[in-house]
Amino acid sequence: METLIRRAASLLASAHRLVILTGAGMSKESGIPTFREAQDGLWASYDPQQLATPQGFRANPKLVWEWYQYRLGLVEQAEPHAGHLAVAALEERARGAVVITQNVDGLHARAGSRDVLELHGSIRRFKCLRGHRGMSMDDLAGQEGTPPLCPRPGCGALVRPDVVWFGEQLDHVVIQRAFVESEACDVMLIVGTSGVVHPAASLPYQAWNRRARIIEVNPVPSELTDLAHVFLQGPAGQVLPNVLTAVDDQRTVR
Ligand code: OAD
Repeated sequence: METLIRRAASLLASAHRLVILTGAGMSKESGIPTFREAQDGLWASYDPQQLATPQGFRANPKLVWEWYQYRLGLVEQAEPHAGHLAVAALEERARGAVVITQNVDGLHARAGSRDVLELHGSIRRFKCLRGHRGMSMDDLAGQEGTPPLCPRPGCGALVRPDVVWFGEQLDHVVIQRAFVESEACDVMLIVGTSGVVHPAASLPYQAWNRRARIIEVNPVPSELTDLAHVFLQGPAGQVLPNVLTAVDDQRTVR
């Protein structure tokens, strides 16, 4: 493992343009469940068709709202862990770096990452079915209903979390930039994703096709492991701080 960490660190220390692509596994050690893990992934106990599609919301808005409120509660209790802090530090040390995340929990920004593309939106932001956006829970305080109704004067449409559900388009500007960054990077660090949800899962292929070096951190191999030049098997909260230390050791030697 030490040799692999050193190899990853040497790629990271010499990267000109770094993309760090993260998924649910990145936040697991902060107490936020993943989706597809057999025992404790959310989709083992909940039906994504019911809870994470526009049709599911139309069929039972109360159920979907309450499920997202439950998840928002988990996110609000969570703190970034050592792996999130290491990501922010790697971003700071790189010449150019961006974090592209499938997570909706905002933990990268809270850990100090500055340039974060949230592919699947944010669980802390809300929008209404007529397209009014940018609302926080504070903006919704005192609104009637479950889900609450849009507080914009004359609107009153149902409010929903500003996340991307199955069957919905990603924000055009965000996904466009994610593709540009993935094509331009010379190193991509992938952390904690199963690599099955597109378009996020296509980004490593864009990088690989342009000859970027791929490093992956995951306790088990994923759909993307075949692309990885260095596979670091283990949890993000343990592996990433070790990688950061090795990067700093290499920078000192130079
Ligand atoms: P998944 O739940 O599909 O995959 C989580 C990955 O994290 C798995 O590969 C685990 O092995 C890995 N993992 C578990 N613990 C870890 C740890 N401590 N450190 C590092 N990795 C760990 O989650 P995603 O791939 O992120 O989308 O799923 C992508 C999308 O599917 C989500 O954004 C969500 C979901 O449905 C929507 O809701 C639209």
